[in-house]
Amino acid sequence: MSEQKFHLHDQADPIDEAHVRGKFGSRLGFMLAAVGSAIGLGNIWGFPYKMGTSGGAVFLIVYLVCIIFVAAPAMLVELSLGRHGQTSPVGTYKKIAPGTPWFLNGFMGVMAGFVILSFYSVIAGWVIKYFIVGLGKGFSEFTAEHSEDVLRGLQVGLTEPLVYQALAMILTGVIIYMGIEKGIERAAKYLMPLLFVLLILIVVRSVTLKGAGAGLEFMFKPDFSKLNAQTVTSALSQAFFTLSVGMGAMLTYASYVSKDIHLGRSAIMIAGMDTGVAILAGLAIFPAVFAFGLEASGGPGLIFVTLPQIFAQMGFLGHLVGTAFFFLIFIAALTSMISILEPVVTWLVDDVNLKRHLATGLATTGAFLLGIPACLSASDKGVLGEYTVSLFGNELRFFDLLENLSINLMLPLGGLVACLFLLLGWKKRAAMEEVAGSEGNPDHWAIKLWYYTAITLAPVGIACVLVTWIYGFVNPTK
Ligand code: TRP
Repeated sequence: MSEQKFHLHDQADPIDEAHVRGKFGSRLGFMLAAVGSAIGLGNIWGFPYKMGTSGGAVFLIVYLVCIIFVAAPAMLVELSLGRHGQTSPVGTYKKIAPGTPWFLNGFMGVMAGFVILSFYSVIAGWVIKYFIVGLGKGFSEFTAEHSEDVLRGLQVGLTEPLVYQALAMILTGVIIYMGIEKGIERAAKYLMPLLFVLLILIVVRSVTLKGAGAGLEFMFKPDFSKLNAQTVTSALSQAFFTLSVGMGAMLTYASYVSKDIHLGRSAIMIAGMDTGVAILAGLAIFPAVFAFGLEASGGPGLIFVTLPQIFAQMGFLGHLVGTAFFFLIFIAALTSMISILEPVVTWLVDDVNLKRHLATGLATTGAFLLGIPACLSASDKGVLGEYTVSLFGNELRFFDLLENLSINLMLPLGGLVACLFLLLGWKKRAAMEEVAGSEGNPDHWAIKLWYYTAITLAPVGIACVLVTWIYGFVNPTK
């Protein structure tokens, strides 16, 4: 394998020399960025928490169906659009279908990114806190009670969680401002395999705990009586979220990819690795949840009470593994946050004509400000935990409002419109050639299969789930 190079091709807008459009020099560079975007808190925090609140094994089955038939095909739509357009999400739609309103989908993606960032940074902040705990005393004193206490400190505190959230946001902003995203992604090339190895170590410890079997049963033995509309909505939105699909992040990354790369194969690899990490995270968490007698439906705090207790069971090694693991989760979160912030910044630079440093500062500050009420309402006991926003008779805390609207509504809608664009706004032949790349065979059966899935099954599936979600949301008493 040849070493990748990141060339900076100067395709910049001559007016703004600070804005230079980089280009991935190789398939590896692109894969690192895309996999770095996909693997993040969605896998390690979101997946176990959603699985725990949405019925265990049943959720897993529906989730896998959603990945294979909906989210991965939609990701490939984004990837092919991105490479074809060679520009921002908004610009891509304008370029392929000038004079039509499709570009609004790119715009909605920017908004979705902004909203996601605001609550994502809250959880990334919590991860920083646990990393710092690891640097200090370690996890040996994390009993069930102590775990709850530390988590509660973050959920009910004022300055502490805000400072950590700010730190996560600032780091992301600084990396984008300095234009060293690719450096971080290259570092992740060594760090992500390490994350994988540690995850396996933790899985081994977790499944060998006494009483772990119940956790495996929870994960793999489906109880179909738990299957309902909420399971399906939650699985679909998680599938979009974890693959970074529906807001143009993958589209943006693909706009930097050279023509000889087979996007179809890339999509399969990204989705495969992402799913592997999510399932491993589940295998790390649920056996321990049951062994320690915790609640599987513990919600967003689940990994933060479970992981430290596993580390406490690992003796001396636990201090090392735990600290390293929280550090690596943070790096994974960082490469994801970069991919969420980047389209927002690019949009401010390309379409609003701001200077890059101003755009970065504004986007980072804005997401942080929006994140403040989210941070203080992440639990009902938080400073703003009692305050709810009333929407169609739903009483939602601010954190839940942002999470719900972005993940359940904006991402699936963004994916749906991208699929519809493939059907109505773009040429079949052009799309299939784009997927295959200059070296691949556009007439391959797998590409045909993708095309027909992406214009039928995927949009119909998304539309059904969306309509059900909206109906349930508007009629909450039902
Ligand atoms: N996929 C990332 C995760 O699982 C989060 C993420 C990064 C994302 N970029 C995105 C989610 C774009 C939606 C859209 O943590």
